[in-house]
Amino acid sequence: MDSPDIPEALLHEFHQDLNRIHSLLGTYTTIERFLRADSLPVRSVLDIGCGAGDLLRYLQRRMGIHVVGVDPKPGRTSDLSLVAGDAITSDLPRVDVAVCTMLCHHLTPDENIALIRNVGRSARRFVILDLIRHPLPLVLFTAFLCPLIGKGAAADGRQSIRRAFTPEEFREIAQTALNGMPNGSTASVAIDVSPLYSRQVVDIRFGAA
Ligand SMILES: C[S@@+](CC[C@H](N)C(=O)[O-])C[C@H]1O[C@@H](n2cnc3c(N)ncnc32)[C@H](O)[C@@H]1O
Repeated sequence: MDSPDIPEALLHEFHQDLNRIHSLLGTYTTIERFLRADSLPVRSVLDIGCGAGDLLRYLQRRMGIHVVGVDPKPGRTSDLSLVAGDAITSDLPRVDVAVCTMLCHHLTPDENIALIRNVGRSARRFVILDLIRHPLPLVLFTAFLCPLIGKGAAADGRQSIRRAFTPEEFREIAQTALNGMPNGSTASVAIDVSPLYSRQVVDIRFGAA
């Protein structure tokens, strides 16, 4: 699915399958819960690697906030502001909080470090939800989710779990990113791991400038 030549119809099907997985895993409700727990008002959210924009649509509906997405291959939509771009290297829109689901395992540790630093220039907080490399989610995904989704998404999902980061690896990546930032000494990283290791949420609060 990372191929730049993937046909649009296949990409659409892939996003639909991903959406089904998100419903089963409760991805959108988890992101909403983390945003609602913010001690400051959350008026605007940027979704990094927004795909077709389904998470943004959900947040807009549930929270009535301003939403914007960035993705090298954003889905075609007329109801959302989705920007075509690379979130590691491009200037990003200024928002209160940036979120990101199921992207980081596609990036190398160095790319994730660069992504976190870039996001830190435009948001005060970065909430990342991603998979965990662990045998348990691999077995559960294969047994219970693969039968419900297309073959392409099933193969992609298994490969994604195998190349995901462990929470320990993610903490090191986030800490390395923050250590190289001017406000890094007042920043914080918290990692929440779900039961059965189905997902981790890496909650980064950038320090005061
Ligand atoms: C596995 S999909 C996840 C899509 C969506 N976030 C979701 O959870 O359903 C990964 C997405 O990240 C996007 N992506 C890959 N590299 C990116 C980058 N450097 N900056 C922004 N988005 C990127 C891909 O185009 C793709 O839409």
